[in-house]
Amino acid sequence: MSGQSNKGTAVVTGASAGIGAVYADRLAGQGYDLVLVARRADRLEDLAEKLRNAYDRKVSVISADLANDNDLRRVEQAISADDSVTLLVNNAGLGGAQVVATADADVAERMIKVNVVALTRLTRAVLPGLIARNRGAIVNIASVLAYDTSFGGIYSGTKAYVVNFTEALQREVADTQVKVQVVLPGATRTDFWEIAGSDIDSVPQEIVMSADNLVDAALVGLARGEAVTVPGLADPAKLDTFLGARQVFFGSLHANKPAARYAA
Ligand SMILES: NC(=O)c1ccc[n+]([C@@H]2O[C@H](COP(=O)([O-])OP(=O)(O)OC[C@H]3O[C@@H](n4cnc5c(N)ncnc54)[C@H](OP(=O)(O)O)[C@@H]3O)[C@@H](O)[C@H]2O)c1
Repeated sequence: MSGQSNKGTAVVTGASAGIGAVYADRLAGQGYDLVLVARRADRLEDLAEKLRNAYDRKVSVISADLANDNDLRRVEQAISADDSVTLLVNNAGLGGAQVVATADADVAERMIKVNVVALTRLTRAVLPGLIARNRGAIVNIASVLAYDTSFGGIYSGTKAYVVNFTEALQREVADTQVKVQVVLPGATRTDFWEIAGSDIDSVPQEIVMSADNLVDAALVGLARGEAVTVPGLADPAKLDTFLGARQVFFGSLHANKPAARYAA
């Protein structure tokens, strides 16, 4: 039987594979109890059993399709009612390099539902409890493709949403002890690529990270209270420069009349 965790419970979506499965392992190792969410119940159950045995933690499983409204609400209800929740890792996601003119509209919608809608609703489900208890964290998994549209606008658009949404969330909780982190993985060796119809072996291997390294780095960032974690970025000054330039740019976007070049 597991002992009571001081760390509370971490909810990890997309825990049946890849990055989410590594998060589940590392967080159990850090002393969190777990709620694992994904569609493939058999994989979740296998992982849960392995983690219970390895770390003596409480691990429960919710099999749910986060693109399905009823399933999503079921997860929301379960995690919003659980006062032990201290961490939500919004990791479940799917990708693809579809261009809009030829994309399967239903696939695109599923991508938006999982990457954007579920992430938003699950955040909404746990945030009031975290704020009320003044503890805990939300980790949202975006992608470096939030800043690059060359692989198609649908996936990139969903991840740009995750970045902006999370940044605004950081402002919301700034006066609390609640932490909010956005993680931007680059190419990471998981099933994601094959599911998206791409081949990770076609990517230069010097830019492909393992899921183990990615998650370990992201957790170091979280422990340090980092708001934006880009595990593959060697020089953090580049992120500061980028974000600073964006602020300067934004500061120049407002005027009470159109710029002279738009004179009719
Ligand atoms: N791998 C990369 O190169 C890379 C790069 C940047 C960002 N990311 C992001 O990292 C996150 C994790 O990706 P990964 O690389 O670990 O991919 P993965 O190995 O394919 O794992 C994706 C996880 O999401 C779950 N999932 C997918 N659709 C779902 C749905 N409708 N409902 C519930 N769960 C669903 C999957 O579980 P089930 O199939 O069992 O439902 C699986 O556990 C994603 O948000 C992805 O966008 C990945």
